[in-house]
Amino acid sequence: MTAVDYHGQTTLITGASAGLGAEFARRLAARGSDLVLVARRRERLEELAAELRAHHSVQVHVMEMDLATDTPGQALAARVERLGLRVTSVINNAGFATFGPFHQAHPERLRREIAVDVTAVADISRAFIEQLREEGRGVLVNVASMAAYQPNPRMALYGATKAFVLSLTEALWEESRGTGLRVLALSPGATRTEFFDVVGTMRAAGGSKLASPADVVRTALTALDRRNPPPSVIAGRMNRVAAALTRRLATRRQVIRVVSRLTAEGT
Ligand SMILES: NC(=O)c1ccc[n+]([C@@H]2O[C@H](COP(=O)([O-])OP(=O)(O)OC[C@H]3O[C@@H](n4cnc5c(N)ncnc54)[C@H](OP(=O)(O)O)[C@@H]3O)[C@@H](O)[C@H]2O)c1
Repeated sequence: MTAVDYHGQTTLITGASAGLGAEFARRLAARGSDLVLVARRRERLEELAAELRAHHSVQVHVMEMDLATDTPGQALAARVERLGLRVTSVINNAGFATFGPFHQAHPERLRREIAVDVTAVADISRAFIEQLREEGRGVLVNVASMAAYQPNPRMALYGATKAFVLSLTEALWEESRGTGLRVLALSPGATRTEFFDVVGTMRAAGGSKLASPADVVRTALTALDRRNPPPSVIAGRMNRVAAALTRRLATRRQVIRVVSRLTAEGT
């Protein structure tokens, strides 16, 4: 296999109103893909759609939707069908985190976090994957995180949701072999988006230098263009080193304590 040809494809991107999702939309429009942009903030999506239509000869559809429901995949598939579209690639990117001790977190916020970061990723993957396999020319990218690689005190639920995304996606990579569909889990480290506004504190970055969305998205698209794409990719060299050290050198107890110290008060 060679580089993905996005011309004539229709890519559905969740969380396209900001950050990494908007960057995926720009890069894929530049490579010729029609787009279905999904998020709650319709105006943002409309603005981006207008920009992309003006600069590239692609069709861009906007779907305002709150993904924190039980069956967002079915709902999206029904809306896509009503428009007469056939989705060939999916980027499950929408997500958010909660910072602070688990016992103080608002239960409704945690419920929504599971709905968006876990349920929506699984449900949307399931709703579209048969079609993606039949088409056999596109990609399924699920956005995980460096938080997937170890437990995360003060972002306990978030780390667990991203470990879910990483595990699910790597298994789907294996199940999709031979179909032409390329499946990838993308794990960014701290990245300059609205993520930290939603979290409410830069402490969630653990003192890391912020990467640019352009670099993170380039890492994913370059991995997908490889002859034999990997099941997952970590954005940023330092993050790759940190993940390797976590796996090989430290005990579980040490890893959890180091991660906890990075986000402790006063850092
Ligand atoms: N930035 C980082 O440091 C970082 C690091 C590792 C992983 N990630 C992951 O990267 C992905 C993208 O995040 P980002 O950094 O680009 O953050 P962002 O700038 O805050 O963008 C998040 C996107 O998700 C959408 N979203 C959130 N809740 C939603 C809901 N209930 N229904 C529909 N859409 C929803 C938002 O759209 P609306 O608000 O318009 O709905 C927005 O478009 C997430 O999965 C995040 O966990 C980010």
